[in-house]
Amino acid sequence: MADVTHEWWQSGIVYQVYPRSFQDGNGDGVGDLAGVIDRLDHLQWLGVDAVWLSPIYPSPMADFGYDVSDYCDVHPLFGDLATFDRLLAEAHRRGLKVILDFVPNHTSDEHPWFAESRSSRTSPKRDWYIWRDPAPGGGPPNNWLSTFGGPAWTLDPASGQYYFHAFLTKQPDVNWRNPALREAMHDVLRFWLDRGVDGFRVDVIYHIVKDDQFRDNPRNPAYRPGQNPHHEYLATYITDRPEVHDVIAGMRRVVDAYPSRMMVGEVYLPVERLVTYYGEGGAGVHMPFNFQLVTMPWNARAVAEAIDHYEGSLPSYGWPNWVLGNHDNPRVASRVGRPQARVAAVLLLTLRGTPTLYYGDEIGMTDVPILADQVQDPFEKNVPGLGLGRDPERTPMQWDASPNAGFAPPAARPWLPVAADHAAVNVEVQRNDPASLLSLYRRLIAVRRAEPALAVGSYRPVPAEGDVVAYVRRDLDAAGGRAFLVVLNFGPRPQAFDLSVDAATARGGRVVVGTHPGREGGLVGGRLELKGDEAIVIAIGS
Ligand code: NOJ
Repeated sequence: MADVTHEWWQSGIVYQVYPRSFQDGNGDGVGDLAGVIDRLDHLQWLGVDAVWLSPIYPSPMADFGYDVSDYCDVHPLFGDLATFDRLLAEAHRRGLKVILDFVPNHTSDEHPWFAESRSSRTSPKRDWYIWRDPAPGGGPPNNWLSTFGGPAWTLDPASGQYYFHAFLTKQPDVNWRNPALREAMHDVLRFWLDRGVDGFRVDVIYHIVKDDQFRDNPRNPAYRPGQNPHHEYLATYITDRPEVHDVIAGMRRVVDAYPSRMMVGEVYLPVERLVTYYGEGGAGVHMPFNFQLVTMPWNARAVAEAIDHYEGSLPSYGWPNWVLGNHDNPRVASRVGRPQARVAAVLLLTLRGTPTLYYGDEIGMTDVPILADQVQDPFEKNVPGLGLGRDPERTPMQWDASPNAGFAPPAARPWLPVAADHAAVNVEVQRNDPASLLSLYRRLIAVRRAEPALAVGSYRPVPAEGDVVAYVRRDLDAAGGRAFLVVLNFGPRPQAFDLSVDAATARGGRVVVGTHPGREGGLVGGRLELKGDEAIVIAIGS
């Protein structure tokens, strides 16, 4: 896109690949880098700008790669460094950027750093992790709980001390207060930056510093038995500590030594806290992920308020972003239903801020039911039956109607089951159907790429009621100012929207993209009758 005033990660669209589930290149049932390379043409055809790969590093796979045992290599399941270099070159050749997943909060317990740290209390790397003596009467040092169930402390019998793990026992947290650990982590960033990666998605960046006094977390007054046991206590002393921003600024300095690279941080916090992760004056991550559309109720008034609240909370240097789904949350088509998944696509791709798409959401993949003997996710294994498991949203990409959906050869046994509906819901079928969700995504992406008003223009809400949300995006740089009105119906019933209520929209315009057949190319003005679950993008200025 011809836009010299914005960086690629501002004007572009990010696509998340969960490598285990995207394309199996060697028939072992697990996706790999050779498979991703084979499917880069799909991403180029779709029109996205960047691919974020969930972790590809050597790992015992206790948490499917979020337990790293070597930050500077590739797991043999996925390939090797040479294959990664090929992927990078092939992506770059197609104009696609590559974002790696950086997991700085914890390593695997099989990482050599941890082996050395646990070897003795006097190990030079002892302080690279978080070791504490038992509580005075015995037992864990304090009440901190693991996100994945149970205490966050595990006793190492040999040295008599506990180590802290915010996630699995096999994922010990590192100690970012230690300067040598910091430097080693910075070297990891440099290793990949030198290889040419374009950015990092930084795992649980808001977790990486804990309270230095190890105070007990307060009880959560809203907690009820039967809920996620982790929420019995607030995370007051284990996340979002004030000192975290200094650590992030250190990472940022490393990344800034290379031109046009970026960091997007994983942060699940209320908007007021979220925006602090841009850092003082922009010294933090380039973007903290904005997960509001993933976690909030799906209704027009709530979404409209969330957009305005977010827009109003951003610092002047904070570039916005929006997410509809990822590998940790139920899929958008399951959360909101298939008709609204089309409305969600229009929303994601017309809001101000970098959109991140989760693989398969562009064809409307839904959560796949996982039988007890198919469960892979350690979260589900540790805390069963509460619906917390993440396997349903991690199933193989549905490319075609063949037995393994084109994800793996028909004889292979995919690591998670392929969706039962894959013969109907797949890329091949939807590519050739102008009414499909995939075709809608592709048109939306094409328009966003072609129109600076949509990619980087201003956002202004337009008053709307009931199930309708409306806003105007405008290209402030161009003389004459291209502008678009976006109108979305979040409900199943028809709704009216009066374009004459706003001076900018009063003259009406031409529909450039719509969820429903027959709309595109048509002129609209005055009172617009939206069908249930309909969303349209109207060019209103030229
Ligand atoms: C967040 C990741 O997205 C999730 O998949 C993982 O289990 C935890 N961090 C721990 O690394």
